[in-house]
Amino acid sequence: MNTEGKPTYILGIETSCDETGASVVMRSESGAGAIVSNLVRSQLKEHAAFGGVVPEIAARAHGEVLDGMIAAALGDAGLGFDDIGAIAVTAGPGLIGGLLVGVVTAKALGLARGIPVLPVNHLEGHALTVGLTEGVKPPYLLLLVSGGHSQLLAVLGVGRYERLGTTLDDALGEAFDKTAKLLGLGFPGGPQVERWAVGGDPSRFALPRPMQGRPEPHFSFSGLKTALRLEAVKLGALSPRDIHDLCASFEQAIAESVADRVRTAMAMFRRRLAADVPLRLVAAGGVAANKRLRATLARQAERAGFSLHVPPIALCGDNAAMIAWAGAERMAHGLADASDFEARARWPLDAAAPKAMGAGGKG
Ligand code: KG4
Ligand code: ZN
Repeated sequence: MNTEGKPTYILGIETSCDETGASVVMRSESGAGAIVSNLVRSQLKEHAAFGGVVPEIAARAHGEVLDGMIAAALGDAGLGFDDIGAIAVTAGPGLIGGLLVGVVTAKALGLARGIPVLPVNHLEGHALTVGLTEGVKPPYLLLLVSGGHSQLLAVLGVGRYERLGTTLDDALGEAFDKTAKLLGLGFPGGPQVERWAVGGDPSRFALPRPMQGRPEPHFSFSGLKTALRLEAVKLGALSPRDIHDLCASFEQAIAESVADRVRTAMAMFRRRLAADVPLRLVAAGGVAANKRLRATLARQAERAGFSLHVPPIALCGDNAAMIAWAGAERMAHGLADASDFEARARWPLDAAAPKAMGAGGKG
């Protein structure tokens, strides 16, 4: 591969939750990446009536569209299977039924076409996206905030992750989703809460800033969620103004709490790495799309002498380009394992990290 300085084309497949993704990404020998095609199909409509993702429905919906999307991603790229150097597929963590659809499809294609198939950790996809979008390569400090995870990690290299902090209860996206449900705003909650927060008064409700000042950069969001519920119950019937103000106050509390945790992690990262390492903070995962959070992080990073890097909003959510890119990076770093693999519902990026005190089962 790459014998004549030619770029490598990787086909990426993503089916871990409620977005089906197929993408072709190019990686040049110099290490630069480019998205050649990128298709994402959200299953929002299938799950809307249930107020959350239904695993069986998700798996069936991935199965119905994945083959066609792979063909379309290749078509958009103007490439055939003969041009593809490897297939990178999300093998975990996520909903096992959906993961199996992607993994079985990737393995069948690999076998039929003689193309190597690489298992990719979905979280590594989010973690490395800024390498694809703006050429930012490790080391950096990563804030990973999605529907299933809230973590602070030192990304020391491709495949080398040290977890500094994690959530003791809900993931951040989960807290947004549950709050939106409570306020009757629909699913997924993050974008709805953000929309309603516009024009709201962020100081009307005195919500807690969880974990503020704690020495370890862990998160907790369940107390904040409960405090918001109590405020809503006190009000009784909610006017649109109440909802605007509740959403703005919630977002503000989240942004300040996360910024405090990130400040602690930046100090740890600075101590952990050699003095001449550039100080960079990367935010990734679906919640990194939140504008108030992005603005608060930008101020916090600047104060600490860190530069902030966030993927474009379209690549914050789940997509297959990030999976293809993580596969390409692993291959380039000699981490591509040709042996057989299975889909895994649980797959922490830092397997050596201890369980956080009081953690409710999420790592
Ligand atoms: O990374 P992602 O697309 O899927 C997972 O791997 O979980 O993240 C989805 C999560 C959902 O909880 C969604 O509500 C949240 O990201 N989210 C947001 C925003 N956009 C998506 N949360 C806050 N503000 C947003 N603009
Ligand atoms: Zn994700």
